[in-house]
Amino acid sequence: MIENRKLEHLKICMEKNVASHYSYWDDIILKHESIPRVDLDEISLTTEFLGRKLEAPIIVDAMTGGHKVAKKINENIARACESLGIGMAVGSQRAAIEKKEFETTYSVIKNFDLPLRLGNIGAPQIALGYGEEELKIAMEMIDAHALEIHFNYLQESVQPEGDTKVRGLKEKLTLLARKFPLIAKETGAGISRNAGEFFKEAGFKAIDVSGVSGTSFAAVEYFRGGELGKTFWDWGLPSPYVILSLRDLEIPLIGSGGIRNGLDAAKAIALGANVVGIAREILPQAMKSHRDVEKKLEKIIKELKIAIFLSGATNVEELRNVEYIIRGELRSWLKLS
Ligand SMILES: Cc1cc2nc3c(=O)[nH]c(=O)nc-3n(C[C@H](O)[C@H](O)[C@H](O)COP(=O)(O)O)c2cc1C
Repeated sequence: MIENRKLEHLKICMEKNVASHYSYWDDIILKHESIPRVDLDEISLTTEFLGRKLEAPIIVDAMTGGHKVAKKINENIARACESLGIGMAVGSQRAAIEKKEFETTYSVIKNFDLPLRLGNIGAPQIALGYGEEELKIAMEMIDAHALEIHFNYLQESVQPEGDTKVRGLKEKLTLLARKFPLIAKETGAGISRNAGEFFKEAGFKAIDVSGVSGTSFAAVEYFRGGELGKTFWDWGLPSPYVILSLRDLEIPLIGSGGIRNGLDAAKAIALGANVVGIAREILPQAMKSHRDVEKKLEKIIKELKIAIFLSGATNVEELRNVEYIIRGELRSWLKLS
């Protein structure tokens, strides 16, 4: 049953180390400016994304919904995001599309005045038959401003019950992107350049890169008992590499996959992301209380401000043009393109 699987994912992500073995964010160093240009307090984080105004360029990315514990987790995240004026995505809404009784575990976020609410549906479900009707239900369930379509074929291929049919998917997505505000999203293996070009052409509104550096769903499946997950633990494109390879497409980017703190967030934006998406790093707090989520996000926001200040920028837009160096493994990746 989906609800058991989703609960198991949460448990594994809390109890085991499911991160990729390498964080490519450590291969980026922002250049220091010894005389900052404005007071730290004057650094502005306000950002417009998909026509919505955020108080900071941050989205708590898709994690949950569809089982009892999920309602409280989504409520804690939503309350914190409301008070900080940042965006939020719910986890895959498939559970509620298939069983209406789970709807409130997602729709609970409608009780909060969030500047950006993102729904979430899997591309594998679209390949297998979801269409306009299901997407409309998902959007309405949370009054979504846009809908993330997640591409998790790494996870699907290493789990025994995985959905790996893709024939006809592109054609279906092209039709759906004309009718719904869609965001293409990976879940930890990174959106490829080829796919990025397709999404741009099809009229997707943004791309959530979710590359290698953080949560590995191959690792999650390994801990669920799928041996194949171990082999493919680190498979995928590094998050910062994906941002750099998609930047010139001029489609809004959510920089995500392994963002641990505000400095990683600053690096993602300096490379070309418009906002960042954070998932696993918020989970332990989200399981405790909204105040814990808020405290954690406040720290990330403070770190992001400091990074902007010390880079000699004054706001998020200027951060996108600061100088940085790239070293290590990430540098080898850049030789590819
Ligand atoms: C517990 C958990 C559940 C997740 N569930 C979903 C999901 O339902 N849909 C989705 O698109 N991504 C899901 N993700 C992936 C995240 O949204 C994100 O893309 C990925 O974890 C990389 O970010 P991170 O390294 O900050 O965790 C989940 C992640 C975690 C940790």
